Amino acid sequence: MALPKPVDVTRTPEWAALQEHFDRLQEEGVSLKKWFADDPDRVASMTFDVEDLRFDLSKNLVTEETLDLLVKLGRAVDLEGRFRSMVCGEHINTTEDRAVLHTALRRPKEQSGAFMVDGQDVVADVHETLASIYDFADKVRSGAWTGVTGRPIETVVNIGIGGSDLGPVMAYEALKPFADAGIKARYVSNIDPNDIAEKTRDLDPETTLFVVVSKTFGTLETLTNAREARAWLLEGLRDAGAIDGSEDAAKEAVSRHFVAVSTNLELVEEFGIDPKNAFGFWNWVGGRYSVDSAVGTILAVVLGPERFQDFLAGMHAMDHYFAHTPLEENAVALMGLINVWYVDFFKSYSHAVLPYDQYLHRFPAYLQQLTMESNGKSVRWDGTPVTTETGEIFWGEPGTNGQHAFYQLIHQGTQLIPADFIAFANTPNPTRDGEQDVQELFLGNFLAQTKALAFGKTAEEVRAEGTPEEIVPARVFEGNRPTTSIFGVRLDPFALGELIALYEHITFVEGTVWGLDSYDQWGVELGKQLAKEITPALSESDAALAEQDASTRSLIEFYRENRTW
Ligand code: F6P
Repeated sequence: MALPKPVDVTRTPEWAALQEHFDRLQEEGVSLKKWFADDPDRVASMTFDVEDLRFDLSKNLVTEETLDLLVKLGRAVDLEGRFRSMVCGEHINTTEDRAVLHTALRRPKEQSGAFMVDGQDVVADVHETLASIYDFADKVRSGAWTGVTGRPIETVVNIGIGGSDLGPVMAYEALKPFADAGIKARYVSNIDPNDIAEKTRDLDPETTLFVVVSKTFGTLETLTNAREARAWLLEGLRDAGAIDGSEDAAKEAVSRHFVAVSTNLELVEEFGIDPKNAFGFWNWVGGRYSVDSAVGTILAVVLGPERFQDFLAGMHAMDHYFAHTPLEENAVALMGLINVWYVDFFKSYSHAVLPYDQYLHRFPAYLQQLTMESNGKSVRWDGTPVTTETGEIFWGEPGTNGQHAFYQLIHQGTQLIPADFIAFANTPNPTRDGEQDVQELFLGNFLAQTKALAFGKTAEEVRAEGTPEEIVPARVFEGNRPTTSIFGVRLDPFALGELIALYEHITFVEGTVWGLDSYDQWGVELGKQLAKEITPALSESDAALAEQDASTRSLIEFYRENRTW
């Protein structure tokens, strides 16, 4: 079925109404202080509880009327209909002519048979693969799966990049307190030789297992690192006298120390990994949407199948909430729509994500691929140019570290930077510093920052503290810096699953309003192609050097002159 053309959202009456509303707010003056004072119900009406997460949207630069107009905008682009098309397997990834079905990865087994897409029972296939991943994970965890010398696995090294790395590493870091089998995880992604060198330096080949993860199994970085890992393994085993130099011994060692995750099992076999040691997934899973597919195999190993199931259940709970909650009360949809409000009306292009939980320290990096590879586009899903600004620059660091680095700009800079604060009531590491509960000290900082950003500090308040007049302006906080607070009970596999699905759907909402195919990523291709052409010029090819532009040539000449090895 042909997809409808994207609506040019800027030509809708709903957009015009929002523009008028925005202009009016600018004239009247945007004031969170006033809005809070005028509306005693503001917090209650803008707070939403989803499972064990509380969403407080009240410190955003929106009124009830703004939200109402944004919801109307969502309906004008048929947000709900497009989501239904997505979960039912329509090919909404138009430029690759693919279904977009990451939500199927976390559907419960009972839904097998309910989603036939392009002739495939997607839920049944997902659960068949999950069963084999869980079986493998149990074997590694129990020590039944051993290295070639019979020793149990102590470290699993994930080799992958982009979506085949960022999700697993983020989730591993986030859920470290749940890694209970005594198996360590490491992640190699960069083609920079320093990455693999540092990650393998102190490992024992006899107890190391590599999981090579690549959707395409054609990614330069991953295949290069996988070959290096294989050479490291065989050399280490031979040096230790654990295997002889024969081909058969090498094959046997690779089969005990390498597994693969890919949609392309033929290339896995060509690489030398036995397809019986490979876990598949499907073209309808985008790399950046794949942490809950076989791409998360390393997580099933270190956390255990049960926790991986909890993680999937958290994602499914969020999918269900997003799909079945009217837009007016749908915190996820509202967050996406509010982001559009900031980008397209406030012209605010950067968005901070500030986890008040050290375990989420890789979450902003993960979100960067999810959001920016999805919505960093200038043409719409039918190939026509976009009609408004798209994409947001997502970035962030955990609090309180960020407070001592870049918060100055968020509090007092000239740019408006909406920020999502994420915190949890409970910590797995409760600590006291004398009388002081350290978690409470930490949470006090989270609350203080959102309060300071929203309500600021007036010149009168600064003066009242006895501040000399000449430095009063520097100490004024104008406030009205928008934040969303996501406050959870505890960071566990379920909650992490919810957070990931939340941002997937926020990305969907923004992409739909802008008319984008959020599921392709052609913008990464040109650089890959040019790298293949340029690399020979670095070492020997003068012909390749001559092909380059003047700047590239000059940089290569510098390299050739200075290389010392
Ligand atoms: O170059 C971008 C990209 O295609 C990402 O979308 C993807 O997550 C990453 O490369 C890795 O791709 P693969 O899993 O196929 O190795």
